Amino acid sequence: MAETPRPAQYVDIGGTMWPTMVTEKTLKAIRDFDVWDDDMWIAVYPKSGTHWASEICNLIKYSGNSQHGHNPSPMEFFSGNPSQHSPTLVSEYNNVSEWESPRVIATHVPVEYLPRKILDEGKGKVLSVIRNPKDTVVSEYYFLKGVKPGAPETFSQCLVENGTSEHAPYNTWFGHVLGYWGQRHHRQFLVLKYEDMKRDTRGAVIQIADFMGRPLSDEALDKIVDLVQVDSMKTRFKTAGESQEKENKKGAKNILRKGVVGDWKTHFSVAENEAFDALYRQKMAGSGLELQFE
Ligand code: A3P
Repeated sequence: MAETPRPAQYVDIGGTMWPTMVTEKTLKAIRDFDVWDDDMWIAVYPKSGTHWASEICNLIKYSGNSQHGHNPSPMEFFSGNPSQHSPTLVSEYNNVSEWESPRVIATHVPVEYLPRKILDEGKGKVLSVIRNPKDTVVSEYYFLKGVKPGAPETFSQCLVENGTSEHAPYNTWFGHVLGYWGQRHHRQFLVLKYEDMKRDTRGAVIQIADFMGRPLSDEALDKIVDLVQVDSMKTRFKTAGESQEKENKKGAKNILRKGVVGDWKTHFSVAENEAFDALYRQKMAGSGLELQFE
């Protein structure tokens, strides 16, 4: 099969990143990032499983050893100044050149904004997870409420600002997802769906391990599948958060909230749901992407 064409790089997507978190300087640093051949980039729209995918990759890297933490990981997201470990601010990770490889590096930027070395020089690999946008925006609502002063006060407000607006962060869910989905046949990319990962976590871990070129023993695989269940991750994140300041604990609680498919049903009104479905049909027409909403 012919290689998938590379995305147009660094196109102006209208300045719709996350203005308070992503500066021009950050974007430039990501673009110029020194990617290593075996880097694993976790490139996911916010609230779609970034921490889940990162934890799976880190556990694969350490063959199921949950005490890993030699490098910043989701477990360490809470263990320092959050701005240094935020997935978006990847350029500000500490001592990234000293991390043990394969480095697992998370980011929320759209595909066009990935480092040049990934897109032009074929270095590194990219794992993207796509989650249905209705659950994504519900997750975002609770997350923002917990961490951001001035967060949307109602779910309806959040749905507009982060779900249906042309100015929703990171090129909108639609633009972001279509960008990564368009790369799904490229050898450097593995694009998974959150709902498939929930239904068959074992299958997803095997696929990711193969993609990383690190096949697992049956024992390590069993261990990892247990460790990446949402309740198990919650317990470990809570422990990590408890030793930290209050603000970080709050973040931990909201990052690992329910981890289910279909939570949107108790949040969208009938009218909101109909309007969203119409927008979804319009934006996703011809994409070939089928998502599960319940
Ligand atoms: P909910 O708020 O719907 O529970 P991100 O890491 O991109 O911020 O995404 C956070 C969302 O992923 C949260 O969704 C969180 O619960 C869910 N998540 C995290 N770890 C998970 C896991 N192991 N299994 C299922 N969902 C998980």
